[in-house]
Amino acid sequence: MQKIVVINGSPREQGSTAALVDEISKGAGNRGAQVKVYNLNSMNIKGCQSCYACKAQGRCVLQDDMQELYDEIASASGVIFATPVYMWQMTAQLKLAVDRLYAFLKPDYSSYLTPGKKVLLAVTQGRPDTSAFHHYFEHMGKMLLFLGFGDYKILIAGGTRKPEDLLSQTTVVEEARQLGGWLVE
Ligand SMILES: Cc1cc2nc3c(=O)[nH]c(=O)nc-3n(C[C@H](O)[C@H](O)[C@H](O)COP(=O)(O)O)c2cc1C
Repeated sequence: MQKIVVINGSPREQGSTAALVDEISKGAGNRGAQVKVYNLNSMNIKGCQSCYACKAQGRCVLQDDMQELYDEIASASGVIFATPVYMWQMTAQLKLAVDRLYAFLKPDYSSYLTPGKKVLLAVTQGRPDTSAFHHYFEHMGKMLLFLGFGDYKILIAGGTRKPEDLLSQTTVVEEARQLGGWLVE
């Protein structure tokens, strides 16, 4: 069975980003995938210490909850990076985890990841104009390609102060389910 890992950087476990993840998960679940959600806000994840031990030993030496995420990402067929937009960017919770993905890079900048791991960037934002921060998430998608992840897609839902604002947008909900299916194609 294919496994999709969700790394959710929203502090609101019942918020709009979680609602978007739920819809994507339905699409992935309908194709028989197992979806595992990690809410970073309630996890113990330290910022990268720039010790470069990961380059010498092939593994991050910080013994915190990131260790479980490394294993989950390595064994997943797809990864959903989910975040609300905070100050035009991903949340700090997600950025801490993203910096730690540096451990997937070998000293020669090739990757420890098995190729072809699909990525979905699932984003919610208060601003209704969903093109406003698209370039930022394109940048993030390209960085993940460099890290050794596979094809990425971006789904941004706008005007979401609460989950109902998202669930009432039928085109976004439909797209979320389709992209969930794309993750496990
Ligand atoms: C600290 C903070 C910063 C925010 N910055 C932005 C922003 O720069 N642009 C935007 O459109 N929305 C911004 N928002 C709104 C959230 O992105 C939006 O309400 C989001 O859907 C909340 O997701 P959640 O329910 O998962 O927390 C911000 C919200 C907070 C709390």
